Amino acid sequence: MNISITKTTCPKEKPDASTLGFGKIFTDHMFLMEYEPERGWYDARIIPFQNLSIHPAATVLHYGSEIFEGLKAYRREDGKVQLFRPIENIRRLNRSAERLCLPEIPEELGMEVLTAFVNMEQDWTPSAPGTSLYLRPLMFGNDETLGVHAVHHTTFMIIASPVGSYYKEGINPVGIMIEDEDVRAVKGGTGYTKCGGNYAASNRAGARAEKKGYAQVLWLDGVHRKYIEEVGAMNVMFKIGGEVVTPMLSGSILPGITRMSCLEVLRSEGYKVSERLISVDELAEAMENGTLEEAWGTGTAAVVSPIGELCYKDKKYTVNGGRSVRSPSTCMTPSRVSSGARSRTSSAGLFPLTDQFSPRKPRHKARFSFLHQIHFTWIKSYRKYCETP
Ligand code: PLP
Ligand code: COI
Repeated sequence: MNISITKTTCPKEKPDASTLGFGKIFTDHMFLMEYEPERGWYDARIIPFQNLSIHPAATVLHYGSEIFEGLKAYRREDGKVQLFRPIENIRRLNRSAERLCLPEIPEELGMEVLTAFVNMEQDWTPSAPGTSLYLRPLMFGNDETLGVHAVHHTTFMIIASPVGSYYKEGINPVGIMIEDEDVRAVKGGTGYTKCGGNYAASNRAGARAEKKGYAQVLWLDGVHRKYIEEVGAMNVMFKIGGEVVTPMLSGSILPGITRMSCLEVLRSEGYKVSERLISVDELAEAMENGTLEEAWGTGTAAVVSPIGELCYKDKKYTVNGGRSVRSPSTCMTPSRVSSGARSRTSSAGLFPLTDQFSPRKPRHKARFSFLHQIHFTWIKSYRKYCETP
């Protein structure tokens, strides 16, 4: 596709890595393209970052026809920039689009526009440990009429933000409140999609948790308020009695790409992993009798985030002694270790990762806490994802 490029005439100064936080600073440009059924995708353009002009009747403003994605580009030690499994984000965007009656983007086109935009903005990819360039593709209904119907005119865009850690706690354990009133999603609804409405509906519980001093909520299922689903905007995993357990994908849970990657890594390392129903009673019992060894969330923004405390019905439980898991391994970021990757980069210097992952033979390891090991294997897996076929 022809992508027209209009460069900014006043480039901004790049921020100091220590001031980044999450999603507060934006790069110099943004990508946009439009869709109408008769024309397909058209008018692909990279333009200076700016406010949008939108019709007051635009579908997204009234009926919430919006989906988004989140993925990261990392700066490697050799200076090149690489994306983490971008094709998985494009595939998930298309599954979200199908659910919300928005148009899908052919995978090749999705990769083409994403890499063109990242190439344009790659100087904004920070290099300090724990930092990356967060990419936020989004799509919304842009019809100028108040009728409720499947969207006709759609806008797709990508913005980018250099980021540090998502939680103010960084890699230190966060406190989580188990939410037993509001639910995030139900089967048959939109829980498996990344649509804006899911996040709007979760804000009330998030605000309640924050008021009580917790970073996020642990969501229970919408029918029984019994089975664990997700933690905030992350998938959740527990190590109970030596086994890693995570809620199975049931339709109301977002199929996280970090979740999928962690499970692949864990299985290839020989760990026992189950994707199944986990009741809050089972978790409470494991917390009571000490068999809950570790708990953590997985997601692009927060990567692998240890949980140090869980609060259920005003009762507080400490996980893993609430200890910080900061260690040389957890301090290492994918960008630091990926320098070991083979440097067969494209001429533009961008290095999209492949989807391929070859499981390795299980290896014995016992020296580190389990969460440390996940960080280790996670970090090593980046090398795998770096390798081009
Ligand atoms: N669950 C929710 C609700 C999310 O918003 C996210 C973040 O994208 C995740 C899980 C983790 O998904 P991923 O690992 O693909 O970022
Ligand atoms: C992500 O992890 O990428 C997310 O989208 C989570 C949140 C910032 C909405």
